[in-house]
Amino acid sequence: MTAKSPKKPYGIFTTFLLHLHPPMVDKSAIKFTRTFGLGGINALLFIILAITGILLRFSYLPAPEHAYESILNLQNQTFLGGLLRNLHHWSAKLMVVTAFLHLLRVFFTQSIYFERKKNWYYGLLLFAIVLAFNFTGYLLPWDQLSFWAVTVVSNMPSYIPFIGDGLSNFLRGGPEVDGHTLLNFYNLHTSILPLLFVVMMSLHFYLVRKAKGVTVQNPEEREMVKVNPNLVIREALVALALFLGLLIFSMIFAAPLLDYANPLLSPNPIKAPWYFAGMQELLIHIHPTLAILIVPLSLIGFLLWIPNQKINTQNIGKWFYNERGKSLLLYSSLLSAFFTFAIVLVNEYFLTEMLLSGPPLILGLVPFLLYIALTLGIIFFLQMKFKIDKIELFNALFSIIFCSYLILSIISIYFRGINMELIF
Ligand code: HEM
Ligand code: HEM
Repeated sequence: MTAKSPKKPYGIFTTFLLHLHPPMVDKSAIKFTRTFGLGGINALLFIILAITGILLRFSYLPAPEHAYESILNLQNQTFLGGLLRNLHHWSAKLMVVTAFLHLLRVFFTQSIYFERKKNWYYGLLLFAIVLAFNFTGYLLPWDQLSFWAVTVVSNMPSYIPFIGDGLSNFLRGGPEVDGHTLLNFYNLHTSILPLLFVVMMSLHFYLVRKAKGVTVQNPEEREMVKVNPNLVIREALVALALFLGLLIFSMIFAAPLLDYANPLLSPNPIKAPWYFAGMQELLIHIHPTLAILIVPLSLIGFLLWIPNQKINTQNIGKWFYNERGKSLLLYSSLLSAFFTFAIVLVNEYFLTEMLLSGPPLILGLVPFLLYIALTLGIIFFLQMKFKIDKIELFNALFSIIFCSYLILSIISIYFRGINMELIF
């Protein structure tokens, strides 16, 4: 019997690393264009937000009489206080974008089917938590911007029949935005949401490991390389670039802070936070029950339903599904952007005046039906031109909906003036 040579024990760094990664990874899985590092970027942004958030708690006071002043003190009288707030503010905004880009990445590389289906659902939940973090954080500075934006958004659920008012009151902790809302949002923001996020993120990571890493094309031709240094170096570079970029951006651009919140003086227009801007624009055009209940629920149902489809495993990991995927995406995105813009204009300048004398239900239904008809038109066109299959149909629908929301958001943010009138 030959004695085995004793294995060298792992150092602390390697042990930590092996909790995150397997010792070996597929060479094609660590190519930058496979994931664009977006999952890791989200994780790092959360770490930055948690650290800066914990530091912010040392000076922040969650009460209407003190919150705004504590932010002013932080910015003007605390060493590096302004930078700390800017870092938290810009990282939070960036995380909405990077989480969504990561969602697009997994969606358009077909990484949501079979063993990854559950992780798509966890991801959707993580995205909802990111939005909840941003929304609850938005109120905390207690200035005119945050107070009125939260007032607008917290009123939105009240359009839901029967339970709407109750829901809005529950969200605010009362009939209007006040000290109860601030305290509730603060507690959600700094304890419940971080806890939820950490649990969900750990499950998310576990499922990535369980699925043997991210999707790769032709997994049978795997060429394995050591995770350290091959992947670790790339991750360190992306992390360094992200942190430096954020630091420099936060040194140059200050987080906005308007006057102390005044519940008696509403600005005009009052705009929702940018990630809800599309929803605010939608409310101008279609019936509120459609805009606040039916459209979002159908969208969520659609996102939950897609990964249940059967898909050719050869296409898993392939960007945009197949060779013509990019053209399909381009057609559906451009057509949808054009039609959404056109419907907004037609509704604003013709339909509203024409239908104003009729029942409000008709006024709120016609633009919606017009949109559905044009979407079906785009799908019919794609079917004629490309003879698309089921997955291509989903990809096209996804890009149509996404581009419409983008256009609605742009219009709401940049082209709505006093009384939310359209301006150019
Ligand atoms: C453990 C985690 C976190 C803690 C303890 C924390 C704590 C805080 C505190 C005390 C404030 C008030 C100070 C201020 O407004 O500048 C704040 C603001 C804010 N937080 Fe967080 N936060 C955390 C994570 C996050 C995350 C993950 C996000 C977004 C994804 C986020 C988004 C925001 C936003 C948008 C604001 C308003 C920033 C501003 O304009 O001043 N926070 N947070
Ligand atoms: C916001 C916090 C999130 C974090 C920290 C996170 C982290 C990660 C990481 C590190 C990976 C593996 C590497 C990579 O793909 O870049 C991953 C994969 C994955 N994520 Fe996320 N993610 C988040 C949000 C989301 C969202 C919003 C979705 C979609 C709704 C999602 C769905 C997925 C799926 C399906 C995979 C498996 C992809 C594959 O196997 O190729 N994640 N995530």
